[in-house]
Amino acid sequence: MSWAVLLGLLAALLLLLLLSRRRARRPGEPPLDLGSIPWLGYALEFGKDAASFLTRMKEKHGDIFTVLVGGRHVTVLLDPHSYETVVWEPRSKLDFHAYAVFLMERIFDVQLPHYNPSDEKAKMKPTLLHRDLQALTEAMYTNLCTVLLGDTTEAGSGWQEMGLLDFSYSFMLRAGYLTLYGVEALPRTPESQAQDRIHSADVFHTFRQLDLLLPKLARGSLSVGDKDQVCKVKGHLWKLLSPARLAPRAHRSSWLDSYLQHLEEMGASEEMQARALVLQLWATQGNMGPAAFWLLLFLLKNPEALAAVRGELEQILLQAEQPVSQMTTLPQKVLDSMPVLDSVLSETLRLTAAPFITREVMVDLALPMADGREFTLRRGDRLLLFPFLSPQKDPEVYTDPEVFQYDRFLNPDGTEKKDFYKDGKRLKNYSVPWGAGHNQCLGRAYATSSIKQFVFLVLTRCDLELTSPDAEIPEFDLSRDGVLMLQDG
Ligand code: HEM
Repeated sequence: MSWAVLLGLLAALLLLLLLSRRRARRPGEPPLDLGSIPWLGYALEFGKDAASFLTRMKEKHGDIFTVLVGGRHVTVLLDPHSYETVVWEPRSKLDFHAYAVFLMERIFDVQLPHYNPSDEKAKMKPTLLHRDLQALTEAMYTNLCTVLLGDTTEAGSGWQEMGLLDFSYSFMLRAGYLTLYGVEALPRTPESQAQDRIHSADVFHTFRQLDLLLPKLARGSLSVGDKDQVCKVKGHLWKLLSPARLAPRAHRSSWLDSYLQHLEEMGASEEMQARALVLQLWATQGNMGPAAFWLLLFLLKNPEALAAVRGELEQILLQAEQPVSQMTTLPQKVLDSMPVLDSVLSETLRLTAAPFITREVMVDLALPMADGREFTLRRGDRLLLFPFLSPQKDPEVYTDPEVFQYDRFLNPDGTEKKDFYKDGKRLKNYSVPWGAGHNQCLGRAYATSSIKQFVFLVLTRCDLELTSPDAEIPEFDLSRDGVLMLQDG
C-alpha cells in the first residue's frame, strides 16, 4: 500500500471519527434527534419533502425539537402561539439576514463590499410604501394592460391554449419587471409597448430557466449538465439587467434608483450590480406569479367562489365612472373594498405559501413558550418556524384544512374574519404567508394589489376556461417547500 493511499485512509478515518462525535442534549434544551447518518442526519428526508418529515418529527417529539440537517443543528418550532416571541427578538439574538446572505452568495453569486443588511433595509423600505407604493400600483396596472391585453390582441381573437402557471407567472413577472426596472419609452407608443412585450418576455423566459433549477441550486445538488445551464442562463440575465442596459429605461421605479444608488455607495462593481439586480428580480417577482396561479386555479375549480368574486367585481364596474376598457388605474380605495377577493387571496396563501422562517441563533438564548415552558437555544444553531404546518394546515385551527373555502376569511356580515383559535386561545399569527415581526415582507402591500389587479383584468377583460375542467388539482412540488410559494409538480 502506498503512502498516499495510507494517508488517505487515515484522513477518512479521522473524518468519520470527528463526524460521529455526537452532540448530547443539555438540560433545558429541546428534544434532540440526530438521525442515523453521521453529519448528514436528516438532510435527505428534509430536502425531499420537508412538510411530511416535520409532521413525523412533530408526532415523535412534540412542537419543539432539534434535528441534524447536513451538519447544522436546526431547532424547529411548530407552536403558533409561540411564534410571536421569536419574530420580535432583536437581530443580536436571532438574525434573519445571515441565512439570506448565505443564499445570496450561494445562489446568485452576489458578494457586496461593506454589506450592511439593516442599512439596506432602511434605504429600501420607503420605496415600497405610501406615495411610492401608489406609483408602483398605478404602473403595475398599466404594465399588466400592456403585456396581458397587448399579447392577447396581437394573437388575434379566438381561444389560445397555455399552461395556467405559465400564463400567470409570465404576465405577473413581465409586468412586475417593467414596473420596477422601467419601460422602453414615455409617453408610451404602440411601438414602445410592443418592444416592452418582447423584452419582458425575454427576461421572463430566461429567468424561468433559472427559477426551475433553484431548489437544486440551493441544496448544491446540480448535475454537470444543470451547472452548465445555470452558468449560461445567469450570464444572459446579468447582461439583460446590467446597469448599462437599464440606464436609458424610462419610468424606472424609485425602488430601482434607490437600490442602484445604494450599490454604488457600497462600491459594488458594474458586474456585481448586475448580479444583485438579478437577485432582486427573484426576490421581488418570484412569488407573485405562483400565488396568482393558485388563486386563479382555485377559482376555476370552484364555481361558487368564481361567481362570488365576479359578483364583487361587477359591483365595482357598476359604480365606476368609465367603462372597464377605458380604465387606466384601479384606485387604492377600490382595491381596498374587495372583501371576497381578499378572502380568496388569504385562503390561497394559507394553502400554498410555505416559507421557512429561519433565524440564526447568535447567542445562547432562553426561548419562552406561550404555555409557560422554557427551552434554551444554542449559539450557532438555526431556528426554523414552519407556519405552513401549523397554523395553516392545522385541523384544530381550520376545519378541513386541505379544502379551499373561498369565504374562510369572511365574517357573515362581509367583514374580514380574523379570529381563529388553537387550544381554546385566539391566535395572533393564524396564517403567516408574509412572515411576521421585524422581518415581515416589505412588499406585501405591492404584491397584494398587483395580484388583485391581475385577477381583475383577467376576469373582466378576458375569457378564461380550463381545457380539462375535471382534471385533479396538481400535486405540489414538494422540493420547493421553504422557497415561499409552492409550484405545481
Ligand atoms: C406573493 C408574494 C410574496 C410573498 C408570499 C412574500 C413572502 C415573504 C416572506 C415569507 C418573507 C420573510 C419573512 C421572515 O422570514 O420573517 C419576505 C421578506 C421580504 N419580502 Fe416578500 N413576499 C412576496 C412578495 C414580495 C415583493 C413583491 C417584494 C418587493 C417588491 C418583497 C420584498 C420583501 C423583502 C424586502 C423582504 C425582507 C424583509 C427584511 O429584510 O426584513 N416581497 N417576503
